[in-house]
Amino acid sequence: MTQNTEEFINHLLAQMTPAEMIGQLTQFSAGPETSPDLLRQGQIGSLFNASGALTGQGQSKSSNAATANYFQNLALEARLKIPLIFGRDVIHGYRTVFPIPLAQAASFNPELAGQAASIAASEASADGIKWTFAPMIDIARDARWGRVAEGSGEDPCLGADMAAALVRGFQGDSYSAPDKIVACAKHYVGYGASEGGRDYDGGEISEPTLRDVYMPPYQAAVSAGTGTLMSAFIDLNGVPATANRRLLTDVLRSEWGFDGFVVSDWDSVGELIHHGVAEDEAHAAIQALRAGVEMDMVSGVYHKTLASSLQNGKISLGEIEEAARRVLRIKHRAGLFTQPFTDPDRAALTLLTDKSRQLARKFARDCMVLLKNEHKLLPLSRFRRILVAGNFVHATSELFGTWTPDGRAEDVTPLEEALRQVAPNNVELWFADQPDLALILAQQVDAVVLVLGEHPWRSGENANVSQLELPPGQAELVAAMSTLGKPLTLVVFAGRPLAITRQVAQADAVLYAWHPGIEGGAALGEILFGLGSPSGRLPISFPRATGQVPIYYNQKNSGRPITPDGEFRTRYVDLPTAPLFPFGYGLAYTQFEYSNLKLSAETLRGSLQISADVTNTGPRPGTELAQLYVRDLVGSLTRPIRELKGYQHLHLQPGETRTVKFTLREEQLAFTRADGTRGVEPGQFHVWVAPDSQRGLRAEFWL
Ligand code: BGC
Repeated sequence: MTQNTEEFINHLLAQMTPAEMIGQLTQFSAGPETSPDLLRQGQIGSLFNASGALTGQGQSKSSNAATANYFQNLALEARLKIPLIFGRDVIHGYRTVFPIPLAQAASFNPELAGQAASIAASEASADGIKWTFAPMIDIARDARWGRVAEGSGEDPCLGADMAAALVRGFQGDSYSAPDKIVACAKHYVGYGASEGGRDYDGGEISEPTLRDVYMPPYQAAVSAGTGTLMSAFIDLNGVPATANRRLLTDVLRSEWGFDGFVVSDWDSVGELIHHGVAEDEAHAAIQALRAGVEMDMVSGVYHKTLASSLQNGKISLGEIEEAARRVLRIKHRAGLFTQPFTDPDRAALTLLTDKSRQLARKFARDCMVLLKNEHKLLPLSRFRRILVAGNFVHATSELFGTWTPDGRAEDVTPLEEALRQVAPNNVELWFADQPDLALILAQQVDAVVLVLGEHPWRSGENANVSQLELPPGQAELVAAMSTLGKPLTLVVFAGRPLAITRQVAQADAVLYAWHPGIEGGAALGEILFGLGSPSGRLPISFPRATGQVPIYYNQKNSGRPITPDGEFRTRYVDLPTAPLFPFGYGLAYTQFEYSNLKLSAETLRGSLQISADVTNTGPRPGTELAQLYVRDLVGSLTRPIRELKGYQHLHLQPGETRTVKFTLREEQLAFTRADGTRGVEPGQFHVWVAPDSQRGLRAEFWL
């Protein structure tokens, strides 16, 4: 189609009745309950899932081209033949399940995340899905919140990079391509700040923190061209996000220039009544639409009330038309008017290819974080007989993590079998899932690996915990095993940082495997037996105990920062203030040393070059993540003690030294100042090139 999008939409809107416009603002679930008549009358603009069933935890009935085409045919029987857009939660893979998003962030490799998203897009689109409710890009500082698993962790710089890469991965250069899908950056905004880590609860975020910490991933997603955003469930500073005109319209559209559409979260328009800002459904619909929520996800409130609100003058036709315009714009850009149907033959060729599996395996390997490796216990290849024990021994879909409605357990090689396949021939592996048996067998082996952690359903939406320690019974097994004197490796599968302080002390080696996805078993084996080396770094601080949360590295200094002799400081009397492991931390099978930090000038004018030498001083090749941090020493508002500004991987052979070079640009020093404007403030800065957020070489410069 050569006709330009805006002309096309104007022409279409001129022919549309108000009911047809409201139809474009309405999304319902697809399934037996979907009314063919409403579709034929053009009163539904989008179907959720294209096949019905619930998503969230576990597998749901998958979508397929035939079902999508069936519904599309009904929609195209309508007078104006406006195609549906089919949406679904394609969160970290489709049939090929990649590591959970938090794990992906641990790779510090946005490009790899983008490749995975691109595969997910290609698989999902083959099943008729043209729109994913991803990426989830909410910053999270409290690991009790179950949805910490779905985002990129605590840092705005890494979060923004991941957001942009994921949007580009899903959408490609143009999401009109048959194998690309429209992205939906969610949940705008501040959803990660719900009090007490309780999903759906309210939260308070100051304007500078909202702008400097929670918003950067969204702004990056918008700059990367995301077609849509989803409004959050949260009541933020007293205004539910789904009714927040300032954030949805003034900031998102006027400041950032977003021209796509916003969909509500599931029923969040209707929920404005529970929040206590809307008297009834009609009032809720008016508030959400006026705020800038163009599409109502399943609450049915727009469908039920907007026409009569229009009639009695409570909403104008112009407002409804503007919302419909935005939805139609994305549909047109998605190529749906020319290509509304899905080729039914594509799925067989696209889903779960060898290439996708290979990428899933590499990604899983690159996400795992080695937290401890006393006496170089890992890799384990020198041991003859090894016991693998714990509740993950037979894991299949338990490796997936949350939000994998299209992953199938039968596609996964069970952990036990995957480890057998990868282990060297001379290693004998024993397995035990029962603690009592494990403790007996452990006496007869050379080394023990405990594979423990959270079931995927213990993380994700509405899976909040009040205690971050290992699930019941697991700490006891680690403690008992540690008394036997066998070299002990702990592998933790989880959707969040767990407070494993005691277990880290008891085990000789600790590997954090997150929920690593479909190839997680083999990836783990490759790391354990040294066929791959660990290179993941923590995208979120690990607390020593639940009472430490919220905890994050880019905190403020306070008037009484911690000192070694510190009484009357920002401390606990029963716990150190520092995290168990800081943001950016992770070990390799070798060691790295930093030296020779150099700045191109004493004063930053426009930009500054920063370099340092990194040497592999250990016996094996390895990958280091060199991290660039900055501190603005004096500001009109208090400034974080460190902020990540860049990171680079270095693959180094034993003895090899390489110089890592960063460019720091002036705009990277901008923040929300006391007067509410964004910009830099002249003064002195500290800069680090560092292996994590607590260590590193430091220098000073002026702006
Ligand atoms: C979640 C969203 C999700 C939507 C549709 C909601 O409960 O908050 O993240 O996209 O459901 O499944």
